Amino acid sequence: MPDELRLGAVYERSIAASLERLWENVHDWEHLPWVHEGAFSGIELEESGDWGWRARVGLAGGDETLRVELRREPDREVYHTRTLEGPGEGSDTIVRLIPRSERVTDIRVEFWLAVPDEQQAEMFGKGLLTLYARLWDEDEAMMVMRQEVIDGVRSSPARAGTAAPAPLALGPWSELSARLPLAVSTAQGEFRVVETDSGFFAHSVFCPHRGGPLGEGEIEAGHVVCPWHGYRFVLASGRGADGRRCHMAKPPRVELGADGQALLFFADDRIAEA
Ligand code: FES
Ligand SMILES: [Fe+2]
Repeated sequence: MPDELRLGAVYERSIAASLERLWENVHDWEHLPWVHEGAFSGIELEESGDWGWRARVGLAGGDETLRVELRREPDREVYHTRTLEGPGEGSDTIVRLIPRSERVTDIRVEFWLAVPDEQQAEMFGKGLLTLYARLWDEDEAMMVMRQEVIDGVRSSPARAGTAAPAPLALGPWSELSARLPLAVSTAQGEFRVVETDSGFFAHSVFCPHRGGPLGEGEIEAGHVVCPWHGYRFVLASGRGADGRRCHMAKPPRVELGADGQALLFFADDRIAEA
């Protein structure tokens, strides 16, 4: 360790996720301003690869940015997060991943800080302990949920092309607005029914990117926005709305039936009926 860096603090805990999920999370630079919106306001990637990533990261609550590099140590379960520019420039956070069982990984985080004396190292170290406890809580929740999606404990995203069942009655059309957002579980998948200025829409509660909780996503301008990485999807079509070529399966449609019921039509059943 370079002489000019001082050890500010050490953070240790157990994470309820596999080593594979941990490394996936570490390489996943895109989630920072979404899953950790309380800490980061944005991220612009410079470069990424098997080695790690380098990016400019906005800090929440102000205009400050950090230029950060996350780099894996070859052949070891260790990575460094170095601040290349911005507040704390020169600091190096070293994280060691220690697999304990199939679904438990311990972490040991050392905060090596570019500060002139021990007092400042201790002061900044305390702040980092609080920050990292929150960041790892948020990451752990994401990893646990993602593992459940992979394991099929939660249903996987609805698929296009499966046989379309009969329309599903959602109750009286006149009462639908008051019951929203409405969770609907069907053989075709799990959906959330929402309303916009253009009418009622149903969308899958699983994101086609990495299975994120779209059922908790914001509805904005006819789009649903995933809380994990901010991918946007057009409610009416399921198509990706941000140029990333990530799309949902064609969503079911919410329509008014002849008997005043709100009906959920899957795939092409309405066309077949016409
Ligand atoms: S899981 Fe990544 S944007 Fe939804
Ligand atoms: Fe994270």
